Amino acid sequence: MDINILGIESSCDDTSASILQNGVVLSNCVANQEAHKLYGGVVPEVASRAHQANIIPVVDMAIKKAGISKKDIHAVAFTRGPGLMGSLIVGVSFAKAFALSLDIPMIEVNHMKAHVLAHFAEDPKPTFPFLCLTVSGGHTQIVLVKDFLDMEVIGHTLDDAAGEAFDKTGKLLGLDYPAGPLVDKYAKQGQPVFPFPEPRIPDLNFSFSGLKTSILYFLKRNLKKDPQFIETNLADICASVQDRIVSILINKLKKAAKQTGIKEVAIAGGVSANSGLRTAFQATGKNLGWNTYIPRFEFCTDNAAMIAVTGYYKYLKKDFVGQEVEPVARMKIS
Ligand code: KG4
Ligand code: ZN
Repeated sequence: MDINILGIESSCDDTSASILQNGVVLSNCVANQEAHKLYGGVVPEVASRAHQANIIPVVDMAIKKAGISKKDIHAVAFTRGPGLMGSLIVGVSFAKAFALSLDIPMIEVNHMKAHVLAHFAEDPKPTFPFLCLTVSGGHTQIVLVKDFLDMEVIGHTLDDAAGEAFDKTGKLLGLDYPAGPLVDKYAKQGQPVFPFPEPRIPDLNFSFSGLKTSILYFLKRNLKKDPQFIETNLADICASVQDRIVSILINKLKKAAKQTGIKEVAIAGGVSANSGLRTAFQATGKNLGWNTYIPRFEFCTDNAAMIAVTGYYKYLKKDFVGQEVEPVARMKIS
């Protein structure tokens, strides 16, 4: 019998639904929210309302695209956390109503675990144990992945996430939210000629707030001398910022691989879409004899396929939750 899982993702500003059949992605539909650009960041109340408007059409589209019907769905997997409470509530409430009306089980999913398991949405898949650098707008973690549902965070950020570092510096440069993809775009046209400092943080942990401050003062200093400094040097500034964020990430990943002796290494999360990080990651892997894994772009940023994949492995263990389940804004991986 085919096992069809409906995945629902609504933790931040993307509403997504996906159908997974026996572990294979049949559809992965995402409604992005453009409104936040106006405010330079995600506005929780706006996000929550947009999820309400988007969720039914997105789920409908995912089911149609998969070529199945509602009655063929065996379970609904949903993001329980971490994320914005108002956003999570929409997905969780929808999942409850959907499961109740079809009398099917519900599976709660940790969004950060799901980013890691995005690697199992298609081939090639890493083998256990592997290391996964999970870099998104809200998190920066090095995860030791022992099995599908057995993970340990061995390094994390002490302040900003890598995505925030991209977004906040982009904002200082006058770029729209989310600035990460724009910094990436301009960086391709420039050279990393401005030397921003690499923070000295012990263990496998990260810090990005010092970098943000040093960029702020660098810009202030240079704008005083030349009010056109950003316009004239945008590509080189972006290349320098990106180069430093990437080197911070890669150096810690190298340290983690050395400490654990693991050569199966993956990256995941929205920032893994960054071309500089992808190139540096692959080059490092080649140098050090790692097997490297990067998900396809649509599985890097927030998506419901990764929720359905995680849901599938929990379904096989009959790891279900009841109607009393509630969203949680802060949720640990283990
Ligand atoms: O995983 P994600 O879609 O959502 C969260 O769970 O946060 O990650 C979003 C983050 C944003 O900070 C965005 O600027 C960043 O990923 N991002 C990028 C790129 N594409 C997305 N950062 C740098 N370069 C990119 N190409
Ligand atoms: Zn995410």
